[in-house]
Amino acid sequence: VALVWKAPGEIWERLPNLKAILSLGVGVNHVLGQKDVPNVPVARLLDEHCTQAMAEYVLHQVLRFHRLDPDYAEQQRQRTWQFHPARIARDRCVGIMGLGELGQAAASMLLSVGFRLSGWSRTRKAIANVSCFAGDAELDAFLQTADIVVCLLALTAQTEGVLNARVFAALPRGAFIINCARGEHLAEDDLVMALDSGHLAGAALDVFRTEPLPDSHPFWLHPKIHITPHAATGTHAPSAARHVAENIRRLRAGESLLNVVDPAVGY
Ligand code: GLV
Repeated sequence: VALVWKAPGEIWERLPNLKAILSLGVGVNHVLGQKDVPNVPVARLLDEHCTQAMAEYVLHQVLRFHRLDPDYAEQQRQRTWQFHPARIARDRCVGIMGLGELGQAAASMLLSVGFRLSGWSRTRKAIANVSCFAGDAELDAFLQTADIVVCLLALTAQTEGVLNARVFAALPRGAFIINCARGEHLAEDDLVMALDSGHLAGAALDVFRTEPLPDSHPFWLHPKIHITPHAATGTHAPSAARHVAENIRRLRAGESLLNVVDPAVGY
């Protein structure tokens, strides 16, 4: 059994007896994107700690935008005392792209605070109190609902670059973007243009095409971009160890593994 996080591609040919690949992170794009990966089950790591941490991150970023934190931080720097009327959660719709385990956990936390929720996924989902949209045909209808968009999609050939100029233009003016999935979901120049034109009001980014984000990257100093260093959630050793041990037990017992991915779909 290989426990991996971004293993070098040449490792696979040296593991002729491999029975399973267990990702040490939620994403499996680091495995499925490689050549010559043996044809054995690939499972991702998804546990309560990881899911809860992601939902908390999303709630935090949504509330920052919802309560105009970036504006008040700037006003403080300028010593400006100016009050803006507060909206409450039910006046704001959060649109979640990707309604898997992480997307659903974030949705349920946001619902408990009172936000309106919509969601978009590849295949149709039915989730209580979430307006669910599916597939390319319903993407624009979904975007029109969203004051704050949260990307929690898996990275696949279909979702690479999904946060792009066309999508930004379809959002209501003043919308915010939160990307806590993969940097490759975002067309970086398109984001800067949409922020600079004033169409988008702000972005919170946890993931980047190049990590660590290079010193010279324009995102660092952009006044409307809030950066966290791939910190939204992560592998929590105590619960990850239990998950890995359970999957090894299942493998030995000939049972199916937890959180196995479908290589044809990419997650
Ligand atoms: C982190 O991005 C992960 O996939 O666990």
